[in-house]
Amino acid sequence: MNTREDIIELLNLSSIQPLVDEAARVKGEYTSNKVFFRGLMEYSNICSKNCLYCGLGCGNSDVGRYTATHDEVMEAARIVLANNYASMVIQSGERSDRDFVKSITRLVGDIKEMSSGRIGITLSCGEQSRETYKEWFDAGAHRYLLRIESSNEELYYKIHPNNAAHSFKNRLDALYTLRGLNYQVGTGVMIGLPFQTVEILANDLMFFKNFDVDMVGIGPYIEHHNTPLYAYRNLIPSKEERLKMTLKMIAILRIMMKDINIAATTAMQTLDPNGREMALQAGANVVMPNLTPLKYREGYAIYDNKPSLNEDAEETKAKLEKKISDDGNVIGFGEWGDSIHFKRKQR
Ligand code: 5AD
Ligand code: SF4
Repeated sequence: MNTREDIIELLNLSSIQPLVDEAARVKGEYTSNKVFFRGLMEYSNICSKNCLYCGLGCGNSDVGRYTATHDEVMEAARIVLANNYASMVIQSGERSDRDFVKSITRLVGDIKEMSSGRIGITLSCGEQSRETYKEWFDAGAHRYLLRIESSNEELYYKIHPNNAAHSFKNRLDALYTLRGLNYQVGTGVMIGLPFQTVEILANDLMFFKNFDVDMVGIGPYIEHHNTPLYAYRNLIPSKEERLKMTLKMIAILRIMMKDINIAATTAMQTLDPNGREMALQAGANVVMPNLTPLKYREGYAIYDNKPSLNEDAEETKAKLEKKISDDGNVIGFGEWGDSIHFKRKQR
């Protein structure tokens, strides 16, 4: 199962059920079917980059740009405490100016202080210098998500501008820097990109394994009408195929890397109202309920039809919790839900 050829064969299977069943078994054995919530705060949609697939790229002048206030983020942190989620993700468009870096440092420190250290903080704020990553770690962040987007360099440059600001090597280096600073490191790819092949996806899985990641977030690519990659939308698989391929990727990954954290992403939910639950059944164990203030939701449209644009946080919570426990999962309330894989490596 761990050779590239085996993985390609599994990715080509027409029936996903045997894979999903095996992944569910592995998930039960290695993670006790615990699912963890992270309250997600989409802090700012201002971005200095121009990834060709993303609606927030700086080339898109139709987006009203926002940065949430310090108080708004602290309010989201209070919701995390009130809901007993115990973990929070701060995600943002990429900026590396001093003001931005400082604002994140301050937020991390204040959330830690306000919660007496009870909230575990994951950052997802793009590529930064070693000094910045260290400053944020020292302030109290301990997990970092930075998707490689595609581990295939050629494909990477088909979905990013080929320039210094979007260097494949820098992205890889950033992942190693995070690892060196002792963050729990998460990465991931999009599935169903134009020019992507099953062979490339198999290599993505091998990449996760070889890098020995602690967390993975994979989700379907979804087109955004105001991006350069939209021109290639006739080259991408159907929604059903993207959904199915993502479920296969999640299931195979769970079988390959038994004790890592795998997110059930919002993009899954966009392709199918039950997409996140399907991902949980296929081996995912992390869900990130969106706590971004409603007035900003529209502004964080990385792709078309992103859901929960007007869902109230409380309503989403009740619905989600019920669906998740109905499926036989146990919600890990009050726990950080760190990657078991990371902890095992530490010992
Ligand atoms: N479809 C799916 N995922 C996307 N992302 C950005 N644009 C899209 C899209 N069009 C994902 C990227 C990025 C994260 C912030 O959102 O993988 O890492
Ligand atoms: Fe900016 Fe991230 Fe979108 Fe790239 S994927 S344009 S870095 S928000």
